[in-house]
Amino acid sequence: MTDFSSVRNKVVIITGAADGLGEAIAQCYAENGMKVIVSDVNMEKGFRVVEQIKSKGGEATFVKADVSKEEEVKEMINFAVKTYGRLDGIVNNAGIAASNRPVHEYSVQEFEKVTDVDLKGVFLGMKYGIEAILKSKSSGGFIINIASLAGLLGNSSMGLYTSSKHGVVGLTKSAALDYAPHNITVNAICPGTFRTSIWGEAPEELVQDYAKMLSPNERLGDPKEVGHLALFLASDLARYISGAAISIDAGSSAGKITPAKWSHPEILD
Ligand SMILES: NC(=O)c1ccc[n+]([C@@H]2O[C@H](COP(=O)([O-])OP(=O)(O)OC[C@H]3O[C@@H](n4cnc5c(N)ncnc54)[C@H](O)[C@@H]3O)[C@@H](O)[C@H]2O)c1
Repeated sequence: MTDFSSVRNKVVIITGAADGLGEAIAQCYAENGMKVIVSDVNMEKGFRVVEQIKSKGGEATFVKADVSKEEEVKEMINFAVKTYGRLDGIVNNAGIAASNRPVHEYSVQEFEKVTDVDLKGVFLGMKYGIEAILKSKSSGGFIINIASLAGLLGNSSMGLYTSSKHGVVGLTKSAALDYAPHNITVNAICPGTFRTSIWGEAPEELVQDYAKMLSPNERLGDPKEVGHLALFLASDLARYISGAAISIDAGSSAGKITPAKWSHPEILD
């Protein structure tokens, strides 16, 4: 039987863990015995996630940090090391969406706002997280960066978000080579379309339409599915996987969907 118990007692920080994919990763990690530092700018939701984890017998603490601010990221890492005496991994998940428009219509201010969180935030988490993992002499150190399908492919009207997410994949691949000799794996997860609050006020109908358009199996992803992938990457079962940008998108990034005519559709009857 496949055994995930190697994750037990690993100390991990998850940024943007008060909601959405980060919360699902935090819940999955805690259920499997990891010591989880839930980090976010949203204190109310962050503490709620910690309480939920504790009510199920898991171990978690909250630390407020804006990933775009260097001092706050440093403090977040120091908090983890002070609380648990070590750091084994960090999931750089916090991210924001940008507006949809052609590149020449973006303002410089929006470029800076999105890049500060989606790219600089991941860089800061890696910079200070890796230092702490190295000092902890972790035998199973790991970095997981939550990129996107937009980290693998271009997207019309999504130039800002797409450029940051491509940057995250680039940082991931380079760092995988830097730290392979030091036993730290560095991977990116590239989600397709998941129903989380990153969609903001978009009506359910529109989100479902997007799912049909973007997802070959015509459904939205369940955040728990990202949690399961992140659990595998955090475990010692995945020590030979590094520098990978793993898509979790029902095949969206595999190629273009064209209408296919089956010769024997009766097989489905
Ligand atoms: N949901 C999707 O379909 C999807 C698809 C591809 C990639 N992603 C990526 O997954 C990650 C998580 O997205 P989500 O859908 O769960 O979003 P979400 O909006 O549900 O959750 C994001 C969390 O990050 C926090 N956050 C925002 N800015 C922050 C900052 N500066 N510092 C710290 N925390 C901050 C928010 O408070 C929130 O709790 C993001 O990086 C996003 O780009 C999501």
